[in-house]
Amino acid sequence: MCGIMGYVGPRDAAPIIIDGLKRLEYRGYDSAGVAVHDGTSLTVAKAEGKLGRLAAMLAEHPLVGSCGIGHTRWATHGAPNDRNAHPHTDPAGEIVVVHNGIIENFVALKENLAAGGADFSSETDTEVLAHLIAHEYQGDLLEAVRRAVGKAEGAYALVAMSRREPDRIVAVRMISPLVIGIGKGEMFLASDVPAILHHTRDIVVVENGEMVDITPDGWRIETLDGRPVDRAMLEITWSAEQAERGGYPHFMLKEIFEQPQAATDTLSGRLDEDGSLVLDKVDFPDGFGRDLDKIWITACGTALHAGHVGKVVFERLLRVPTEAAFAHELRYADPLIAPGSLTIAISQSGETADTLAAAGLAKNRGSRLLALTNVVGSTLSREADDILYTRAGPEIAVASTKAYLTMLIGEYLLALAIGRERRVIAAATDDELVRALRGIPVKIGEVLKTDQEVEAIAARFVGHDDVYFIGRGLDHAVAMEGSLKMKEISYIHSEAMPAGELKHGTLALVTAGTPVVVVLTQKEVYDKTVSAIQEVKARGALVIAVAYEDDTEIAKHADEVLRIPRVPDLLSPVLAIVPLQLLAYHVAVARGHDIDQPRNLAKSVTVE
Ligand code: M6R
Repeated sequence: MCGIMGYVGPRDAAPIIIDGLKRLEYRGYDSAGVAVHDGTSLTVAKAEGKLGRLAAMLAEHPLVGSCGIGHTRWATHGAPNDRNAHPHTDPAGEIVVVHNGIIENFVALKENLAAGGADFSSETDTEVLAHLIAHEYQGDLLEAVRRAVGKAEGAYALVAMSRREPDRIVAVRMISPLVIGIGKGEMFLASDVPAILHHTRDIVVVENGEMVDITPDGWRIETLDGRPVDRAMLEITWSAEQAERGGYPHFMLKEIFEQPQAATDTLSGRLDEDGSLVLDKVDFPDGFGRDLDKIWITACGTALHAGHVGKVVFERLLRVPTEAAFAHELRYADPLIAPGSLTIAISQSGETADTLAAAGLAKNRGSRLLALTNVVGSTLSREADDILYTRAGPEIAVASTKAYLTMLIGEYLLALAIGRERRVIAAATDDELVRALRGIPVKIGEVLKTDQEVEAIAARFVGHDDVYFIGRGLDHAVAMEGSLKMKEISYIHSEAMPAGELKHGTLALVTAGTPVVVVLTQKEVYDKTVSAIQEVKARGALVIAVAYEDDTEIAKHADEVLRIPRVPDLLSPVLAIVPLQLLAYHVAVARGHDIDQPRNLAKSVTVE
């Protein structure tokens, strides 16, 4: 996820673009850049780091020109540095582009262009687009962009300018969002409404597969195959603050609702329709996966909960003993980590001090280190031998949601990749998982439609001081994450445990009305978990179950049921966590808490 901003009109473009990018920094902040047309030539300024650095540069050396585009980056291809920052140009400086999203076939496109003699100055997929458009340009930017995007595959938004056409900006939306802002004698383009709200409240939403052509006096939209689109203008009534959260009251809710897109991005270009897998930064030596005899997973908090799902998935699919360990314990435990093993360090930020220390220890002991992280260029990614980026986009709320869900997807992709090398996954299972993974973003969207039901159930938790989350196997792993979400934002004491453990002590705490959340998606242990429900029901507990939509049994046992679509049991955590995120959110809202910045907590724990 990155932020895009464009302006064409009578005013100086750069300050307007910088102001817009500031309001888009929630979409990415590892580098930023601006390109401006001064009527004769295109000039680009860009800088690694937060937007403030670029703004300071421009304050000293202003860019003059009234047509421009800008970008704030959240890296996906290429480390966050000056070179990889957008905008990108072709070598002659004729075309300049910014882009948000992923060009899936950029390696093939780049190789083609390189074979024709093209030189690249960055590692990004974006630069390839600048080359392609320049290559296709015959005097009309719109047509050149149309031909170029005809060759590109992926989910992205692209904005381009040509040196030979001052006062014109052309853009394309392929899934990633784009809006036009309509001013008086001036036009704006942005990834999101907050960037332009200070200038105009009249906007036009660009839909998927559409091209945009703007000049100071007008805008037009057409389809990729050239048919004009008649689109009505909308008047935005949100406050600037509301707009920054996309109209959601909190970043956490926005991020929960971004999960279908985040899952799509995690899978994008990695799992083809025919089932082939491309994990570009995972490059095991020959035979490594085949001979692997131990996997260590290390992380903290939510990331470790994703690791607990990974442990079950790896052991089931790969038949490799796997341990998921708290990083802060592992680093002092003198663990039996040996060469030939794989250590997967999971971290949204890639900067958690304990995780970095445990990962370093594993590497020193000869284990191969794989980083499963969301932040490109993070310390963890720099220290790892292999990297699988989750591509969740920036996560602002302290309570992690979309980062967790995309970590899970990353683990399934890894398991499939290693399983294929070991030849241990039956073809039918492999097929079933591939199909189910490809369909998972839509199913996450279906779970989100139950938000109002979850909200109604949340009302039943509000006055309680203690909540329990139970499940077995993978359901227990999900219960741990559901419980953490509940405690960190609702401040209700919450414990998760395997359903079979209750009767060994905790049952003493279950009394009339105690809420017990039961996750119940695993066929082999279904009846056993139902027995645990009966134990707590006999003590008067209020039982809320998370179960498949076609489970006709559960309503006989639970007081309330949160339904998820059917998927292979191994994948159920990706869906089962979503109602639990919503539940924690609505309980915390009803209790009047600070949702995005809960007390005593920080987004990234960079001290021991
Ligand atoms: O950045 P990391 O994934 O390494 O962070 C680890 C934990 O601090 C983090 O998951 C924490 O538990 C979450 N904020 C909980 O929602």
